[in-house]
Amino acid sequence: MENRLRDMAEAARKALREATSLDELEEARIKYLGRSGLLREIQQGIRDIAEELRPQVGRMINETRNELERLLEKRREALEAGRVHERAGTDRIDVTLPGRAQRVAGRHPLLATLDDMLEIFLGLGYTIAEGPEVETYYYGFEALNYPADHPAMDEQMTFYVTDDMLLRSQTSTVQIRVMERTKPPVRVVVPGRCFRRDTLDATHSHTFHQLEGLCVDEGITFADLKGTLLAFARGMFGEEAQVRFRPDFFPFTEPSAEFAVTCFVCSGEGCRVCSGTGWIELGGAGMVDPNVLEGVGYDTERYTGFAFGVGIERFAMNRYGIPDMRLLYSGDMRLLRQF
Ligand code: PHE
Repeated sequence: MENRLRDMAEAARKALREATSLDELEEARIKYLGRSGLLREIQQGIRDIAEELRPQVGRMINETRNELERLLEKRREALEAGRVHERAGTDRIDVTLPGRAQRVAGRHPLLATLDDMLEIFLGLGYTIAEGPEVETYYYGFEALNYPADHPAMDEQMTFYVTDDMLLRSQTSTVQIRVMERTKPPVRVVVPGRCFRRDTLDATHSHTFHQLEGLCVDEGITFADLKGTLLAFARGMFGEEAQVRFRPDFFPFTEPSAEFAVTCFVCSGEGCRVCSGTGWIELGGAGMVDPNVLEGVGYDTERYTGFAFGVGIERFAMNRYGIPDMRLLYSGDMRLLRQF
């Protein structure tokens, strides 16, 4: 029995040491150390030997098992280490490279600008409204008091989905939708995406964003419009900011104006950002045309109102020094990581 044990141990050592793969090693383990392996078989033979010899043989069996198990572990470690090296040679993934850090999302410059604008108007008591990007001709132009032959309705200016459906070219469409469902007083700002048939270049895009404002109540005057936009300009650019109004035309406001703010870079001196003028144009504004108010059933003897619209792209470009509008839609992380 002792001889059998010794021979078996010798063969097992050799098999374990010479195993060249984890599979081979496992085979050897099963053969010698497994539940119905050779060592177990010898152990069971202990019943057949003289009782006084059993403890000694038992000890030898245990020692052999311990020794073979240590050997098995050592060989397994060696083979596993070897396997990592082997894989490092053939795998396309370098397991030794540091992991990729998760990046925390930031605000897109366009949305950051819009958020800051909304913040100011919420502080002035406005609420936020939204409306559809695909509109009917009625909301797109007719209800906004456009005369039937106005060039803004040309196919060269507006995207038509059908003869009667179009992509809105301004957020002013939502003025009508809001007034239709609310009685005065109305104080809303409307952020939204607009579309025009502009060719994409550094300062134009077929898809762009506006923030519309509408205020209708008893006794609203142009002075309220000026005060509101001054508060807006100062909220965005600081207490020194001034606003400038110049006559303009929009079918849905009368009188109408374009408004600008003193350049936040040169404070009005004239620089590259404001093209030497000292002013940055922000958008259009005016007193809501009585025809528009009548169209939604408001009593024009009692109510007056003002509206304004600010383009968000150019504003964001000035603010962050982004030279090309296309960068805003590129999804390029090199741009987005800077803010
Ligand atoms: N919707 C106009 C534009 O896109 C801006 C505007 C809004 C003008 C509200 C007057 C009142 O140019």
